[in-house]
Amino acid sequence: MTAEIGLTGRDRISSDIQSDVAPSKGRFYAFEGIDGAGKSTVAKRVFDTLSKTSSRQVILTSEPSDSWLGDCVRRSHEEDVSAFTEALLFVADRANHTERIRRWIESGMIVLSDRYYASTLAYQGAMLKSILGERAVKWLRAVNEPIVIRPDLTFLLTISPETGMKRITGRNERTKFERLEFLREVDKIYRRLAEEDGTIVVVDASGQIDEVVETVLEAIGGNI
Ligand code: TMP
Repeated sequence: MTAEIGLTGRDRISSDIQSDVAPSKGRFYAFEGIDGAGKSTVAKRVFDTLSKTSSRQVILTSEPSDSWLGDCVRRSHEEDVSAFTEALLFVADRANHTERIRRWIESGMIVLSDRYYASTLAYQGAMLKSILGERAVKWLRAVNEPIVIRPDLTFLLTISPETGMKRITGRNERTKFERLEFLREVDKIYRRLAEEDGTIVVVDASGQIDEVVETVLEAIGGNI
């Protein structure tokens, strides 16, 4: 079953559901936010709840993916590659990951992805700004759009970049400053995307995690 549906090591699936009724098309939800926003924890909690309450199978997956293409993305962080190379590696990984997501949706599953398309627009948009200026996001959109599936909803978990920085540790002062400036830019792009796209739900993630999970579950709705 696992190999058949294209799960890799870190992807999670709720237990098998036996049904004679052919499932209708599934659902696709993405979780986004700057580093430290807590989206992995929230996605996992939403997965745990839906696994118990939904009549559908639920998949929790993530990007960079757990495939060899995801390994290439992670490797690129250790190598000296250009911002363009890195951006295109994220897109190559997503093209492959999207084919698996497509199959899961077509077989009626609820797919939760910890990061997806908007991560590239926000992070690589911030990265490429010094080279392409305001054209960066436009270019990334053009490269991504033919290969992505539009999530039913994308949850953008927001915290201030300062709080995000406090939650991520182990960096020296200089890197910290650069990182804060960078996260500010990422945050700005994310918020702009949410203003332009009604399927991006902004969720204040500065408070209690239970409340964040509750807000996400309410937006997904009970009837799935
Ligand atoms: P994570 O912290 O959610 O595991 O994500 C790993 C890092 O990869 C995070 O700093 C965001 C970054 N990233 C991008 O820059 N572009 C992308 O398209 C994705 C999916 C992640």
